[in-house]
Amino acid sequence: MITIGILTISDGAARHERQDISGERIRELVARLPDSAVHSQRIVPDEQDQIVSTLLQWSDEQHLNLILTTGGTGLAPRDVTPEATNTVIEREAPGIAEALRAISLQYTPMAMLSRGVAGVRGHTLIINLPGSPKAVQECLEYVLPVLPHAINLLI
Ligand code: MTE
Repeated sequence: MITIGILTISDGAARHERQDISGERIRELVARLPDSAVHSQRIVPDEQDQIVSTLLQWSDEQHLNLILTTGGTGLAPRDVTPEATNTVIEREAPGIAEALRAISLQYTPMAMLSRGVAGVRGHTLIINLPGSPKAVQECLEYVLPVLPHAINLLI
């Protein structure tokens, strides 16, 4: 069983000013993973300490296999998702982040603005996805087939 956490990082969604379409899109897409279940889903504002504490709780206490974040990867002053993720991961998985940017560049040159990272903490794989539902769809469809093997290697 692959256990999954979905973390939406968005000031607007955290204040209930906008709908969390990207988080829901992730939920729909991961349903394609065989023998998997979403155990946790949360929305936090673009605040590094809240992102870090959620990632730590889900990896160290809930021992989730996979955490997918969406949002906060760009260049705006409040985009701190990569910084938060970097304080949590023990080993980087740069190939995943590189692959996501590479496939994204086929859709839009704006993809070069995403600073998303990926890496491992304990048995948990953490992947940053950009914030828009379109980006989530484009990135996740590409990486999804690789995830069962990646997670298997971490058990
Ligand atoms: N990646 C894909 N596949 N498709 C997209 O439309 N948008 C880009 C980029 N990555 C995009 C994408 C844009 S416009 C930005 S600003 C960055 O992701 C960062 O987005 P974020 O700050 O919401 O994480």
